[in-house]
Order: sequence, then C-alpha cells, then structure tokens
Amino acid sequence: MKKIIITGGAGFIGSHVVRRFVKNYPDYHIINLDKLTYAGNLANLKDIENYPNYQFIKGDIVDQPYITNLFEVEQPDAIIHLAAESHVDRSISNPVEFVMTNVVGTVNLLNAARNLWKGNYNEKRFYHVSTDEVYGTLGDTDMFTEKTAYDPHSPYSASKAGSDHFVRAYHDTYGLDTVISNCSNNYGSFHFPEKLIPLAIHNIKQNKPVPVYGKGENIRDWLWVEDHARAIDVIFHKAAPGSTYNIGGHNEWKNIDLIKLLCSILDKKLGRAEGESAKLITYVTDRAGHDLRYAIDATKLKNELGWEPSITFEEGLEKTVDWYLENQDWLNDVTSGHYQEYYSEQYNNR
Ligand code: NAD
Ligand code: TYD
Repeated sequence: MKKIIITGGAGFIGSHVVRRFVKNYPDYHIINLDKLTYAGNLANLKDIENYPNYQFIKGDIVDQPYITNLFEVEQPDAIIHLAAESHVDRSISNPVEFVMTNVVGTVNLLNAARNLWKGNYNEKRFYHVSTDEVYGTLGDTDMFTEKTAYDPHSPYSASKAGSDHFVRAYHDTYGLDTVISNCSNNYGSFHFPEKLIPLAIHNIKQNKPVPVYGKGENIRDWLWVEDHARAIDVIFHKAAPGSTYNIGGHNEWKNIDLIKLLCSILDKKLGRAEGESAKLITYVTDRAGHDLRYAIDATKLKNELGWEPSITFEEGLEKTVDWYLENQDWLNDVTSGHYQEYYSEQYNNR
C-alpha cells in the first residue's frame, strides 16, 4: 500500500485532490496534513472523512523538527504538496507569513523527504503544486509555457517562485524525484469567499457591493478545480522525474466581463430582473502590482500525458453557482468563522 501525504488538503484545491485520491485509489493510504489556518476547513471533506484509507493530521509545515519526526514515523512514499498561503491581497499586507509557509515550509518538506528516502527514489515522489503567477504578467497575445522565465510581482507569487526554485534545486542537487505543475486560476466548490468568483457570488446573493479592482480589465485564465485535481492525478502517476507541466483551460476572461456574467446568471437563478445584480458592481482602488494578464499554454500536458479540461466554462460556472446557492450553511459557517472554532477545538483537545 502506497502512503501519500497530501499537504493543505483541508483547503480549496487540496480538498478536491484528497477526495479524488481517497475515492479513486483505495489501495493508497492518504494522509491529509494541514495546519487548519483560516483557509483550511474540514467540512470540505465531510463526505470522505470516514473512509478507511483517509487520515487527517493537524500540523504545521513550517515546524521543522515536527515535520522531520512526522516523516520518520509515517514513512510516506510520496508527497503532494499544496499547503500554502494563497491570497495575493493577504501577501501584500503580510509578506513574511508567505515566505515562512510557502518557502520555508516547502524546504522543510523537501528536506524531510530527502532525509527519509536517502537517495533511494524508487517509487518515491515529491509533487509540488504551484501557480502560473510565478511567470509574471503578459501582453495582449503571448502565453506562458514551461520555458517562460520566472518574473513574479507580488509577495505571493515571489514566495511560490522561491518554492519552485527549491524543488528544482533538490532534484538537481540531490536527485530527489520531483514534479512541479503551474496552474491557472481555479474556480469551483469549497472556494474560500475572499477570492473573486466565490466573493462575487456571495455578495450578489446578499445584495452587497461587488468590488472590482481598478477598471476590471485584468485578465485571468479560469480552470474548474476538479479538472485541476484530475491533472494532478495524471501528472503524479505519469510524469518523468524532474519534469514541469503547465495546467490551464484556454479560458481567458476580463474580470469585469466575468462579474457581469455572474450577475446575469444570478439574476435568472434568483428571479431578479435582468440588470438588477449588475447595479452592485463597485469599482474600487486597484491592487498594488496587479498583474494584467495570465494565460496558460497547456500543450505539453495535452501532447505528452493526454490531459484536457473535461467541461466548458459555461458548464463549470453553472455547477459552481448552483453549489453556492445550495450550500448556504457552508458559506454561513465560513463567513462567520464558526468552522474555525469547531475544528480547532476538536483537534486541539486530542
Ligand atoms: P487555500 O488557501 O484554499 O488552502 C491552503 C491550505 O493550506 C489550507 O487548508 C491551510 O490550512 C493550509 N496551510 C496553510 N499554511 C499551512 C502550514 N503552515 N502548514 C500546514 N498547512 C497549511 O489554497 P488553494 O487555493 O487550495 O491552493 C492550494 C495550492 O494550489 C497552493 O499551493 C496554491 O499556491 C496553488 N494554486 C492555487 C490556485 C488557485 O486558483 N487557488 C491556482 C494555482 C495554484
Ligand atoms: P483572485 O481571485 O484574488 O485571484 P488572483 O489574484 O490569484 O488572480 O483575483 C482574481 C482577479 O480578480 C484579480 O485580477 C483581482 C481581481 N479581484 C477583484 O477585482 N475584486 C476582488 O474583490 C477580488 C478578490 C479580486
């Protein structure tokens, strides 16, 4: 039985990756290692929490002695590393926390894996989940490929770029079996409502202003989170050691167009007059260092490993809006902070 530690499994993307691996691979023992920061919520995994091949461990990847000991005790065969501070706006107000979690935390995991596996990487793998934001910003027509030079602009993207460099360094220096993927913006269920799509859905629903940074002309390339989880599955199982893949859905949207689309979908679903929700759109001061455009060229992943998005953006957005309308309790818990008290108390008392 393969034992895999998935870090950050209580977060947005991590919960989808954990669910996919627990359900699809009953022969794998999946350990979800998560600190349960504000972004970690075990309610995201309620449906699989009692599966026999799933285990949750509350722990901090920044705590080096703890991580070293955990690896010695658990003897994992592989790591899929998603734990991170992930919100650009928070990185602007608190950059040091991003360096600690994203850079130091990643190096702690790499080092613990290196010490545990001691040069024998047969059937061992360290998979690092990263972002397209490490590549910086684009002009009107070009796209990020795996060969694009790193050019991060926010403390978040700089910290992710730093972690990617360390992963490569551990492959080149120690021969560690590493894989990195850089994905575009994700959307879908269990997305914390500080990020654009869930925030906009939540605010429209509540008749609250929907903040649009600057003129709303920044472009993001959106991918359904379950397609990202499937790409991670494919890359984890098939990629060559030391390789890197971009993941994206060829799906670019100007922020303002996306917000208007969400307003119109919600007008229909909430029985409002067409144009009603769009009145909530409120232009606010732009984000500092705001990257203008991201766009992923995922040709390598398609040609080499056969991965493509499974659904269109229209289908994915419809599913997502429906999920947020049907899961008001989840949203209430997250926006009130209830989930943190509940799960922290449960795990701190163990
Ligand atoms: P998220 O913020 O929703 O979840 C992060 C998780 O990491 C949370 O469960 C949190 O509790 C945990 N965590 C944070 N610090 C920790 C620590 N010190 N020790 C242990 N656990 C800790 O993030 P997400 O949006 O799901 O992103 C997951 C990964 O995917 C990140 O590495 C991110 O950079 C990358 N990524 C995200 C996107 C996106 O659109 N959200 C796109 C591409 C790549
Ligand atoms: P976000 O979801 O924070 O993801 P990222 O910054 O990692 O791309 O933001 C997506 C885009 O939406 C980005 O261009 C910033 C913009 N944005 C707004 O206009 N208003 C908002 O309230 C938020 C959170 C983001």
